[in-house]
Amino acid sequence: MGELKGQVAVVTGAGRGIGEAIAQRLASMGAAVVLAARSVEDLNRVRGSITAAGGEAEAAAADLQKESSIAALAEMVRQRYGRCDILVNNAGVGKIGRPLHEMAPEDWETVMSTNLRGPYLTIRAFAPLMIAARSGHIVNISSLAGHNPLKNGAAYAASKWGLNGLTYSVAEELREYGIRVSVVAPGSVNTKFGGGAAEHGERKIQPVDIAHVVAMLVTQSPQSFVSEVLVRPTRKA
Ligand SMILES: NC(=O)c1ccc[n+]([C@@H]2O[C@H](COP(=O)([O-])OP(=O)(O)OC[C@H]3O[C@@H](n4cnc5c(N)ncnc54)[C@H](OP(=O)(O)O)[C@@H]3O)[C@@H](O)[C@H]2O)c1
Repeated sequence: MGELKGQVAVVTGAGRGIGEAIAQRLASMGAAVVLAARSVEDLNRVRGSITAAGGEAEAAAADLQKESSIAALAEMVRQRYGRCDILVNNAGVGKIGRPLHEMAPEDWETVMSTNLRGPYLTIRAFAPLMIAARSGHIVNISSLAGHNPLKNGAAYAASKWGLNGLTYSVAEELREYGIRVSVVAPGSVNTKFGGGAAEHGERKIQPVDIAHVVAMLVTQSPQSFVSEVLVRPTRKA
């Protein structure tokens, strides 16, 4: 598969879980993938497995909570590749487990700055490259918690409801430049998200299932785009 040959993809949260699977998939389709997350060890492991399989990947340590870190990431991509065809805003944190009135303000900030402000800042940093090219894909990884109430996860749900609104609105702002902006909303996926143990892990949605959806979105024929994909497990756990 070389459908993405010559294209550059930036994937946030690519050090493990869903982001790792998305990065592997895009690299297997021929894209040069820039892997962004804080843990350099994780990024180097993912880069190693992509290059061992014949793909192209680069590890780029970045903290999405920091504007300067995102600006540095975008500048590296601009200087090295001069383009960004695909941006996948996947990095996210949960801080799930307590009712909102018991949540510490620092945890609220962490959730919002990673899950909602992070995608705003990456779009701000990378959209100019896409606008110059008059093409591009932005895929934001939201959650079914962005459609439903989530008891003891109000901040997380609010960040994902917000991400959906951001996505639909930015899609309207960028469509005139040939840039397509989509959101993927998975149910519970078999990863270490929130540090939780994988109960009935094999019955859950797998990271490769989300990677498959992203691959589908970025290979959609140019005259149309898919705004949102909701992903559910076939069997209930
Ligand atoms: N797993 C689920 O059940 C599920 C369901 C629906 C939606 N989602 C969404 O899917 C996305 C990925 O989740 P996952 O399950 O793959 O989670 P995960 O296994 O915990 O991976 C999260 C990734 O995000 C990175 N990250 C977190 N904070 C970051 C920051 N400040 N700067 C840069 N990178 C950061 C982590 O790397 P570092 O810690 O090294 O930075 C890691 O690579 C999230 O947006 C999540 O909300 C997950």
